[in-house]
Amino acid sequence: MVFPPFFCIILKMDKVLYSSYQEFNEHKAKCTMCSIGSVYNKVVCSDGYKQAKVLIIGEAPGKDEIESGVPFVGKAGKLLRKVLNEYGYRKNNSLITNTIPCRPQDNQFPKEELLVRRCMDEWLLTEISLVSPEYMLLIGATPMKYLLKRTGITTLRGQWFKFDHINCMPTYHPSYVLRKEHMKEGLQIMADFKNDIKTVAKKAGFITGE
Ligand code: URA
Repeated sequence: MVFPPFFCIILKMDKVLYSSYQEFNEHKAKCTMCSIGSVYNKVVCSDGYKQAKVLIIGEAPGKDEIESGVPFVGKAGKLLRKVLNEYGYRKNNSLITNTIPCRPQDNQFPKEELLVRRCMDEWLLTEISLVSPEYMLLIGATPMKYLLKRTGITTLRGQWFKFDHINCMPTYHPSYVLRKEHMKEGLQIMADFKNDIKTVAKKAGFITGE
């Protein structure tokens, strides 16, 4: 039986099922579900391809992202995008999103885990199932903590994990890479960050050879 579009949004238990990625984004953009975004009142939607092979997941938008409405466009974002571009990530093969789509007050990631999990349940986890990526690149400790329930980015970065059936690799957050840039360990941290992004790119077939 073919249902008219109206019936394609089905309220099943307490979860909305979306008929398209566009519809999902339209709902997400209007979210006022909790207090995380109440200060800046702007939801930052994802940037890239809705059928991405690689989903890149950051922490939360900052000031620049709230102003532009696009994830990872500030100083740290520029570094991340430069490295992604170097290794073949494009707008037609990958998608950049965040663990939570709102900028938290004072740039402090919310401490209330339940609040974050509710937000993720509504947006990030739904996005993962709609996009159905083959790989996920977890940018920093936050998506690693919330998706893999693991802590210790310095020891776990560069390793493969599974989230459901999806292969995930955590790496450093570019803000951390920039903070360490002029310290003695800075070169190694930058090299590891680039190498992790390259490893995922190779697996996804964005680059070949060395
Ligand atoms: N840092 C993040 O984790 N995400 C952004 O979108 C910007 C900065």
